Amino acid sequence: MYRTHTNGSLRIENVSNEVTLSGWVQKIRDKGFMVWVDLRDRYGIIQLIFDEERSTKELMEKARSLGREFVIQISGTVVERESKNPNMPTGDIEVLVDELNILNAAKIPPFTIEKDTDGGDELRMQYRYLDIRRKPVRNNIIFRHQVSMEVRKYLSDQGFIDVETPYLIKSTPEGARDFVVPSRMNKGQFYALPQSPQTFKQLLMVGGMDKYFQIVKCFRDEDLRADRQPEFTQIDCEMAFVEQEDILNTFEGLVKHLLQEIKGVTIDKFPRMSYEDAMKKYGNDKPDIRFGMEFGELNDLTQNKGFNVFDAAALVVGIAAPGCAEYTRKQIDKLTDFVKKPQVGAKGLVWVKYNEAGNLKSSVDKFYSQEDLKEWAVRLKAKPGDLLLILAGEANATRTHLSALRMHLAAEIGLRKPDEFAPLWITDFPLLEWDEETRRFHAMHHPFTAPKPEDKHLLEKEPGKVRANAYDMVLNGNEIGGGSIRIHDKETQSRMFDLLGFSKEEAQAQFGFLMNAFEYGAPPHGGIAFGLDRLVAILGGQESIRDFIAFPKNNAGRDVMIDAPATIAQDQLDELNLKLKS
Ligand code: AMO
Repeated sequence: MYRTHTNGSLRIENVSNEVTLSGWVQKIRDKGFMVWVDLRDRYGIIQLIFDEERSTKELMEKARSLGREFVIQISGTVVERESKNPNMPTGDIEVLVDELNILNAAKIPPFTIEKDTDGGDELRMQYRYLDIRRKPVRNNIIFRHQVSMEVRKYLSDQGFIDVETPYLIKSTPEGARDFVVPSRMNKGQFYALPQSPQTFKQLLMVGGMDKYFQIVKCFRDEDLRADRQPEFTQIDCEMAFVEQEDILNTFEGLVKHLLQEIKGVTIDKFPRMSYEDAMKKYGNDKPDIRFGMEFGELNDLTQNKGFNVFDAAALVVGIAAPGCAEYTRKQIDKLTDFVKKPQVGAKGLVWVKYNEAGNLKSSVDKFYSQEDLKEWAVRLKAKPGDLLLILAGEANATRTHLSALRMHLAAEIGLRKPDEFAPLWITDFPLLEWDEETRRFHAMHHPFTAPKPEDKHLLEKEPGKVRANAYDMVLNGNEIGGGSIRIHDKETQSRMFDLLGFSKEEAQAQFGFLMNAFEYGAPPHGGIAFGLDRLVAILGGQESIRDFIAFPKNNAGRDVMIDAPATIAQDQLDELNLKLKS
């Protein structure tokens, strides 16, 4: 038997118990007559003691031969510590060792396996198995397990059936590029890895499954960011005989359950906001509503005072940064630099300091009086002590720039509190987005999304005005889930493909299976998918999903531990009938 106990489990009550323990050597302290070793496993750390007075010479020597990360097994007696460590659950006791068995020696690890490590990102990714031994990484992975178990529990209790769908499929257009897999048996043909199980879950509804869920890997060949990985996990769900309201209630219930069970946070009703309002108030379809700083439009208050930039702008819009009126010139210059960065793209920033005494001082005092500025402050709901920040230009772009500034500032002044949770639904997205480059419409969510019934009549003549029966769930400024009521009749689906620029033949070749299925009794249906990695990261108080994935890819989409992607042998290429261009 390798162990009688795990290393985090022993307490003062265990004093005088004979125990056998196994684990990794975290730390060794040799004081000459005594050697202390910290022994670690998933459950915690316990202190071992080797005492010259009470042990054989041989055992002392063996203890001194240990190195960091050696895997050992010991037997001994639990004793009360002389100097206790109140910061450790096992801090009242130690184990006086009388037998030591080295199960496996270890090379010196390339970075310290401690909470705060000296290892850089790339090195830790290369030795991910060592990184996983560190408490913060281990805890994140265990936290993810807890979230996904709660998800399963909730959905299964609600009557959802977990069904697996295939990974080797035909491409589904969700907006990203597909990863493809060549077929050996069907030369010249390729499978695509699913960007989501979208069409399969709809077919399960046609198959009468009624309520489906799956915690499933999805694959998208897109540029990586902190909240994106090329393979990520969805909590994918679909329901038959439902309207939007049924779905919002069911999945609001899921997120409420998670917040309650995992974080002990009770939220009554999630607010709802239309896409249009979200863009107007926050310049963003995934607003962080943990703090205010709502947009205020100032066009009517700024015109014809001789300031050309505002006169010529389609939109003049601002926010009030709470308590920032005393920002120095340097701090404001930094904000200006931020909005002018190519990634943000604004041309400049106008500021107004609304000081505690109620006086207003701005970068455009030449054009605007105290009364003018006062009106701006009222519009932006500013209080004395706030700093007003204003951008101007083309409407959509300016909103996006101001949204970036709002988020940047909120982080800077500590308004994005990781232990506060503010979920909301965004609804009424446009069904279609016009793309100037390709000069055609794209589906804003995906091509299977139904128009809102009251907008369906616009589909023929004004498709750009049609709103989708679609919704996103947003948590703390992140899109954690999105879904829609689906089209379930062949005619509407075929009209949709038409609008998206598919010819009849292309639509039939790519999606004939779905449209055929719609002719055999497809029930009204709809669903949603949550990004599990994002949900877990945010519940864990972070935004980078990589820390919550056991084996993530780096920013270049590489797994640096196994060194993938990699070339394959000529034989494999030949067998697949693939020729690489030289
Ligand atoms: P959507 O494309 O909105 O919808 O994806 C659902 C959720 O998945 C997460 N997500 C990602 N997470 C990490 N890395 C990525 N690259 C990534 N891409 C998306 C997001 C997102 O909200 N089939 C539809 C769902 C439906 O209509 O039911 C779909 O996939 O949190």
